Amino acid sequence: MSDRTPAGGDRAGTDRTSRTDRPALAAAVAEVPDLAPWLARRATVRQFDTDAEIPDDEVRAMVDAGRKAPTSGTTQMYSFVWIRDPDRRERIHELCSRGTVQVEEASHFLLVCIDLRRIRLLLEHRDREFRTAPAMGLLEGAIDASLAAMGVMLAAESRGYGVCPIGNILNNLTAVAATTDLPSGVLPIFGLCLGVPRHGEATEHAPRVPLDAVLHEGGYRDATDDQLDACYDAMNEMYGDSVYGDDRREWQETLERYWGPNGFMNRREGELLDALRQQGFFEARGIDEPADTDAGTDADRNTGGAV
Ligand SMILES: Cc1cc2nc3c(=O)[nH]c(=O)nc-3n(C[C@H](O)[C@H](O)[C@H](O)COP(=O)(O)O)c2cc1C
Repeated sequence: MSDRTPAGGDRAGTDRTSRTDRPALAAAVAEVPDLAPWLARRATVRQFDTDAEIPDDEVRAMVDAGRKAPTSGTTQMYSFVWIRDPDRRERIHELCSRGTVQVEEASHFLLVCIDLRRIRLLLEHRDREFRTAPAMGLLEGAIDASLAAMGVMLAAESRGYGVCPIGNILNNLTAVAATTDLPSGVLPIFGLCLGVPRHGEATEHAPRVPLDAVLHEGGYRDATDDQLDACYDAMNEMYGDSVYGDDRREWQETLERYWGPNGFMNRREGELLDALRQQGFFEARGIDEPADTDAGTDADRNTGGAV
């Protein structure tokens, strides 16, 4: 039997949900190895064997596994769009606008999307009204889509495949949505490259900030100066390896490249707002619009305006 603390066990050692109390729980986990040590070793793979293919059935099985992720209110506000056309993958690679050759080289490429459109269609199918709530749609959809994507990643990595999420689609999100004919109500939030690692295994090492920087026991506290230094000490370990640059770089520069005034995140903000408008998240006549009208958004028109 594993030595994991049973769910609900308290620190005094009185297990409110011990395996003896709950045989079903014991049976469910008995065959599953403890994933924690394996998660500590996992790594993003960016170099794929271009001669090795993951069979389509395997991709379906991995996405199938992701479908069991928790989902807000059972609503499942996500879709994976499996991009099969090499020309489209080449175009997406161009639109990412920086070193993401893996979009073309991986065996498969999926767009992970928030999908409010299927919710709308489901409601209309039963003569019920859908009402866009853009901020909630973005938040809840991103949570659902990310949890499902993590399930796909875990299934893939546990089978020895490599995975690389691709957030660089956010650099040109409106064009990525248009080039893949995504209709109103569907918003890609990142890509997933799935493939066979070129060297047989992932070797890169990206550390994390210390546990006490992210786990606030008893309530949120700002990190002390020492704790902030400890974050830098941990993260600076990664520089010098093949992915994360040379020894002269420090993590503060990476953080600034993402979150400084001129960083990626601020530069992507306008693009995201444009994509939300284009995909109907902000328009009263966007996702709400009846599917049989011909006055849809550009994205709607790409697919004939109706599903
Ligand atoms: C939402 C998201 C977007 C990402 N986008 C990219 C990307 O565009 N290109 C890339 O090479 N890696 C990308 N990554 C992978 C991260 O760079 C990687 O997870 C991080 O450096 C930590 O490394 P590790 O996953 O190997 O531990 C992305 C990861 C996430 C979660």
